[in-house]
Parts: sequence; C-alpha cells; structure tokens
Amino acid sequence: MKMKAINLAVVVLMLSFLCSCQTREPHTFAVGDKTFLLDGKPFVVKAAEVHYPRIPRPYWEHRIQMCKALGMNAVCIYIFWNIHEQQEGQFNFTENNDVAAFCRIAQKNGMYVIVRPGPYVCAEWEMGGLPWWLLKKKDIRLREQDPYFMQRVKIFEQKVGEQLAPLTVQNGGPIIMIQVENEYGSYGEDKPYVSEIRDCLKSIYGDDMTLFQCDWASNFEKNGLDDLTWTMNFGTGANIDQQFLRLGELRPNAPKMCSEFWSGWFDKWGAQHETRPAKDMVDGMDEMLSKGISFSLYMTHGGTSFGHWAGANSPGFAPDVTSYDYDAPINEWGLATPKFWELRKMMEKYNDGKEMPDVPEPPMPIITVPKFELTEFSSIFNGTDPKLDAPVRTGSPVMTFEEMGMGWGSMYYATTLPEIAGQSVLTADIHDFAQFFINGKYIGKTDRVKNEKSITLPSVKKGDELQILVEGMGRINFGRAIKDFKGIIGDVAITSTVNNTETAWKPQDWSMFALPDSYEKAVDAFVNNEDWGKNDNSMRLGKPSQMAADGQDLTTKPGYYRGYFNLKKVGDTFLNFETWGKGQVWVNGHAMGRIWSIGPQQTLYVPGCWLRKGKNEVIVLDVVGPKETVAWGQAEPELNKLQLEKSNKHNNIGDKPDLNSATPSATGSFKSGNGWQTVKFNAPAKGRYLAIECLSTQKEGDCVAIAELYLKGVADKRISREAWTTKYADSEDANGNHTGDKVFDLQESTYWQTEKGLPAPHLLVIDLGSEQTLTALEYLPRAEQGAPGGVKDFRIFIIEN
Ligand code: GLA
Ligand code: CA
Repeated sequence: MKMKAINLAVVVLMLSFLCSCQTREPHTFAVGDKTFLLDGKPFVVKAAEVHYPRIPRPYWEHRIQMCKALGMNAVCIYIFWNIHEQQEGQFNFTENNDVAAFCRIAQKNGMYVIVRPGPYVCAEWEMGGLPWWLLKKKDIRLREQDPYFMQRVKIFEQKVGEQLAPLTVQNGGPIIMIQVENEYGSYGEDKPYVSEIRDCLKSIYGDDMTLFQCDWASNFEKNGLDDLTWTMNFGTGANIDQQFLRLGELRPNAPKMCSEFWSGWFDKWGAQHETRPAKDMVDGMDEMLSKGISFSLYMTHGGTSFGHWAGANSPGFAPDVTSYDYDAPINEWGLATPKFWELRKMMEKYNDGKEMPDVPEPPMPIITVPKFELTEFSSIFNGTDPKLDAPVRTGSPVMTFEEMGMGWGSMYYATTLPEIAGQSVLTADIHDFAQFFINGKYIGKTDRVKNEKSITLPSVKKGDELQILVEGMGRINFGRAIKDFKGIIGDVAITSTVNNTETAWKPQDWSMFALPDSYEKAVDAFVNNEDWGKNDNSMRLGKPSQMAADGQDLTTKPGYYRGYFNLKKVGDTFLNFETWGKGQVWVNGHAMGRIWSIGPQQTLYVPGCWLRKGKNEVIVLDVVGPKETVAWGQAEPELNKLQLEKSNKHNNIGDKPDLNSATPSATGSFKSGNGWQTVKFNAPAKGRYLAIECLSTQKEGDCVAIAELYLKGVADKRISREAWTTKYADSEDANGNHTGDKVFDLQESTYWQTEKGLPAPHLLVIDLGSEQTLTALEYLPRAEQGAPGGVKDFRIFIIEN
C-alpha cells in the first residue's frame, strides 16, 4: 500500500515535469547580420532595466507589467553578489532574493530577460555588488586574476547558474543574453581577466548563449574580446551616431545596442536631486528605434536601495542616497510619470501596429500617516560609559570593520591619552563619518564626503579618554576605490607643537566595539540597555542648548529610538525624517534605508506590503541625534530638500587665485565637436592647483561646460584624481547639479556647467591634493549633439599654492 502511494507520487511528479517542459519549448537567440535573431528572425531588444532587490517581492509583477505597458519586450537585471552571499559560503536565493522566480514572472508576462551577473555591477550599489568579506583578505586584488577572488567568483556564478541556467531561451526560459563583467574599461585593461569571466559564464550557460560586454564608446576597445558582442552605454542627450561610430568601423555587420541608456541619474547626499528632460530621453530612443538599434533603458524603474545597500561614487567619496528613483519613467514607488506617458506614446510607433498593453493598477493605494513621536530611547553611547556589549577587542592596534568581522554599521574606538599641554591636531583616515569625544564630551567630527582628515583637540590630561564613533556608509561602487575598507584606516596620529618643538603620538592601545546595523541589534538595544526608556539630559552629547565649536547641536542624543503608528488601512507612504540627524530606519523589521539631515532626500519610501493594520513599529538608529523625535507619512516623497551647513557652491572669492602675475602652462583653442582632446604644456609644470580659464565658447554667448578633465604626469600617464576637490568655480549651475566636481567624477555623461545667461570667460580651479609635476591636460566636452558649452579659447595654469 505504502509502495503504491510512493509510485503514484512519482508518476504525478513526472507528469507535471513533462507538462512544464512542454510549455517551455526551446528557442534560439543569436547575433545575425546587423541584427539580433530570435528563432532566426530579426529582433530589436527593447529592454527595461529594473533591479529585483530594489523592489519588494509582492510588487515584482506589477513593475514588470508597467515595463511591458511601455512597449518593452524584455527586462534587464543585475545580480548583486553581495545580497545573495552576505557571509562567505552562505547563499540566499529565497524571498526577495529569488531571482529565478523573478525571471519566471517576467516570462509569464511575455517578457524576455537579460542577465548581468557581474561579478562586479557598479549600479550605485554597495561595493558595486562585491561582498565586503572579500576585504578580509587585505591584499586582495578585486576584479583581477587574484586566485582567491577568482575562486569566490566561480563559486558564486555557479550558484547563480543553478538558479538561472534552466531558464535560458535554449532551455525554454526567458533569458536571451548574459553580460560579462561590467564596463571594465573604466576600471582597467585586462583581457585575461575578462576572458576568464567569459569562460566561467560560458561553462555555465552553454556555447549558444549570447554573451556580451558593455562599455563606453571611448574605451570599449581596451577589453573587447573577439568572440563577444559589444554594446555601448550612454545617456539621455548623447549623439547616437557618434556613440556607434567606432563600433561601426570595427564591426560593420554587428547589431547595435545601447546596453544602458540612462533615463535620469542617481542622487548623492549633499547634492541636488538629478533629473533629465523627458523629451531628450524619448527623442534618443525614437532615433535608436528608427535605426533598428536595440537598447536597455537604465533605469526604467529604479526603486529603492533599501537598508545599507546604497553605494558611493568616487573619485572622492560621494555616498548615494537611499532612493534610486533615477528620474526614471516609472517612479520609485511604481507609478507612471509624465516621462512614462511620453515614452509610451513614442513606443506605440514601434509596436508592430498592435495595441499597447494596458497600464496595470497599482497594487496598493498611497496613504498618509499623522505625525507620531518615537518616545522610546536607548543610548549607544553615554559619556565615558559606552552602553555597548563588552569590547570585541582591547589592547590592539586600531582595526577596520573588516578586521573586526563586521560588514556594515558603526564602530566605537576608545584609547587613553598622554598629557598634552595646549592644542594638538589629530589626523586619521576615517571611513566614513566620525564624531570625536574626550571623556564623553563632543569635540568635533570629520566627514569623508568633505575630505576631512584632521581635527583640533583641546589640551588633555594624562589618562583622559579619547572616543571616536565611526559610522560606515555604503562602500564605493565605481573606479579603483571599490576596495573601500571601513572604520579607522591606518594609524591615528596626534601632534602638538609647543615652543616650536613638535611631539607626535600614535596611540596603539585601543578598545573597540562593533555596532552592526542589524534589526536584531536594534531590538536588542531596548532589551539589554539599562538606560532604556529613560529620556534625561545625561544622555545628551552636551548640556541642553549647548553648541559645539563646529555648530553641532549638543542637545541631540545619538542612539536608538522607537515609536509606533496605527493604521486602519495599509498603503504605500513616505515617512519623513527631516528632523533627524543621520542613520538608518527599520519599519516592522524591514531595513528601509539610510537617512541624513543634509538631504536632498528627506523621506523614505515605505511600501504598503510591509505595513499592517493596527500597530506598526519604527526604529531609528541616529548616530548624531534628532532635533525632534517625530516622523509622519506623506503622500509624496521629498527628494530635493538640502539642509546643508554651508552651500555646496565653490564661489568663495577668497579661494580665487590671482592669475594676473601667473604664467600659463598652455594657451590655445579647443576644436569643436565631441571626443577627447589633449593639450601639451610648454614645459613640465609643478604645482598643487589646476586653473582652467575658459575665455570663449564654440558658440558665441554660450555657457561653459566640461565633462571630464585629466592631467598627465611626467611619464605621459594620467595622474590619479582620487584626491581632487574643487577649489573655486566662478559660476556653477548647482540646481542642475553641474558643479565643479563633475569634471573628475569619472562619468563622461556628467559635466560642470556655468549658469545660463552668463557668457565666458569662466574659471575653474581644482585642488589636486598634493604637489604634482604635470605635462599635459586632457579635455572632454559634453557628449551631446552639437556639444553645447564647448570651450574654445583657454589658458591653463598650474599654481603652486
Ligand atoms: C554605469 C554602470 C551602471 C550604473 C550607471 C550609472 O553605466 O554600468 O551600473 O552605475 O553607470 O547609474
Ligand atoms: Ca563627468
């Protein structure tokens, strides 16, 4: 009897397996003559980039249907390695990480899938998708043929393959194309490494899978492999023919595809919200479709970098905000924007005469939540007595998060000081946001965003305790700086000068406490902390209404705050945290993302699917402390409210160098048109500052715009721009976010631009961070058609100090 039941079960299983195979017939997808071929017929890829971890799983299908309603025939996804393997060897492909389920939903809705499994992805995502624990091997070479890196990459790709290889078109699934690495050209030149990634993916997805590489028109040749498809990435407004010019020369019969057509752009803390005009985006896509060019619209729906997953841009350190709205046609919370309707109208022309699919109803209504107070408080730090677990390490030299075995969160470092009469200067390289205390009294802070590395200490007595609370933000996701350790990096140096004698100390004996930013830890803070619930002045950084020398409000209290709100009906909302300092938020145990008073983002998107009728819990970990412990839910997000300590324009007249008596290292005129141009200096020039004076523009009366600048050193090699900052710009269009730093952000699609209606001359001065010997300047104008803002006559100065 038992036997029979088992047999029956086997038959049922086999039958259902056969059925599922029957519905999933194998197809082909290949590269043909100037076109892609789906089952042998010409096919234009119209892909919508969306990232499943940036969308709550209950909303996946709605977002895919929204993409379909735009006339798209595919979705393009990244696989973020670090969300799937958060600890080495522990893989998670369930719930919001169930990428195979996501692909099946796409297929169910008649959409193909393009997969971009990295291992590196960029994407304004923590460390560009690489797991932090790789950095436990201090000397690891990321994105290179480092044996440990390659070993882990292969294990990860194999695991992804277990999920996705059964879903290729060849196996009757929706996956038509797979990307090898990501924009390797802006990282380096290393064909052997890229080849090894290619071989790894080939062995997993088979020889028939169409593998491709994406890069920029300016650098794709550096790593382009002969047997892979080459696609170009560029943004709204770009000159499309120009972007495919070189590809056309090298491979006249290859299909053309823009693998990332940027619909908008990402936002960074402390800078204005980015937007791009709908018309320019739609016109560019119309032009591509009219020429049979395939594309993926990055982003079609950006969503949210929940929890601690937002990355940071570099050179410099420019952490990304939580919202990944991207000014995309489908907004962060899944609704159609005016851009959506304009795009849908245009896409109808290319829909083979068929009616466009319906726009689906949103899965949830939008609700508001009346103002509520977060009344419960638990200190993480209380004067000389940190309310933390026993220190993880004592008596050790200073360690990073990674050395402490912690991926994300904050760390508290303490050491005792010798007697230092008079002021001293503390210098340290701290990632990322550090607050300094002596015996619990707030002294000041260093912010990596502002490149701050030192702080003045008051005189101290022997045995006084120095405490440093360090919050780590998202790891850098772009450029060579992705190897981004967190915490105090290297020694802390204290120097004091008394009677012209310099004395230096390097404290070696540290107590260190790790404060991981998990929900469990946050809840625990309320259980195990004896101060829990008390709300008295002793937990403030200082006494009420005190201000520190740097303007820090000493009445604020860093710590965990908890409050509740009640709902009669659930829906999506935007919780406003503009009265809070800096930190992270959890709602009903879901990590919602980072907050920071400086803006521009002041609200967090809270999806209704994570809320419930009745009581909902909110916990905020605020490492600075709130001005008011209130929050409320609004019907619209606030993505563009800056609350900066000082303006982010660089027009302080005191920073303007006197060029009257200076001798230029080069004078001349740039040619009109797109593309890089090099200016050789008359002689090698030594100095710390680059001043570029734009005397006139290609089109008379135009504003000035520059997309990128490089300087070459003595060996005719580009020098690192890692330490560059903008010293002075006589005019910056800060509203459009065209500030001076855009000339060294490694992005060819962003640029410094002066305000409209202010014709040349214009001056931009860059601090190179240290003295350099320089031989040439490389200049890239804007990539758009007609190159508005192109500089004509110039003078270049290298200034000593
Ligand atoms: C590049 C990367 C993407 C993303 C965009 C900017 O194209 O490939 O991952 O970072 O830049 O949004
Ligand atoms: Ca740029």
